[in-house]
Amino acid sequence: MSSSTDSLTPDQHKAQAARKAVEYIQEGQILGLGTGSTVQHFLTALGARIQDGLRIRGVPTSQATATYATKLGIPLLGNEELWDIDVAIDGADQVDPQLNLIKGGGGALLREKIVARAARKFIVIVDEAKQRPHLGLPFPLPVEILSFGWRTTQRHVENMGWLAPRREQSGKPFVTDNGHYIVDVQIPIIADPTSLETRLLQLPGVVECGLFVHMASLVITGTDQGVRLSQAPKSEIP
Ligand code: A5P
Repeated sequence: MSSSTDSLTPDQHKAQAARKAVEYIQEGQILGLGTGSTVQHFLTALGARIQDGLRIRGVPTSQATATYATKLGIPLLGNEELWDIDVAIDGADQVDPQLNLIKGGGGALLREKIVARAARKFIVIVDEAKQRPHLGLPFPLPVEILSFGWRTTQRHVENMGWLAPRREQSGKPFVTDNGHYIVDVQIPIIADPTSLETRLLQLPGVVECGLFVHMASLVITGTDQGVRLSQAPKSEIP
């Protein structure tokens, strides 16, 4: 049995943040559904509210999220529909004090960015360990690249000054839901995320990068002391 002095685990922090995020969801909304273990907690809590009668529809950012959401009875919009998203909810791998993010540890960064950009509000749910004074190592920056000519694209990225190994899974190249590769760029400190994002996206073969700059409206962080809310300047979330 735990006492009040016990620390919660990172997974309990994730669950806390996820449950708080569900409080922001309103009847009739279109939701962007992120990817990852924190979002799984969110989907579970959302599924329970749907069982209680809440009506929403979701846009999934990965095949894994679509599969889990469908299992929970969460209705999904199709790819032929125009996504007019009220709120997107997603996890992150790192959050800096300006609420800039690194995402893509799960490999879903491209769809996550499309969906977050299509949303009027973007709520990010994280455990406390994701909060960092600056973005960068120990978490490498995921960059999604075309498999066509990937070694050349990798070299363009590495010529910027960092190693960028291709991601592997079980001894094979990791392939995204979009059929692309990912290189994980080992940048010690990302001093200027805006200019780095621009420079990376200018390289032929780079499809997207895991920097989400000035996109989050609200970051909900699970901590031992409860949830902490960090709101972006001028965002409309109460
Ligand atoms: C998926 O590609 C990522 O952007 C995830 O949102 C991120 O890796 C957070 O994952 P967890 O919630 O599993 O920590």
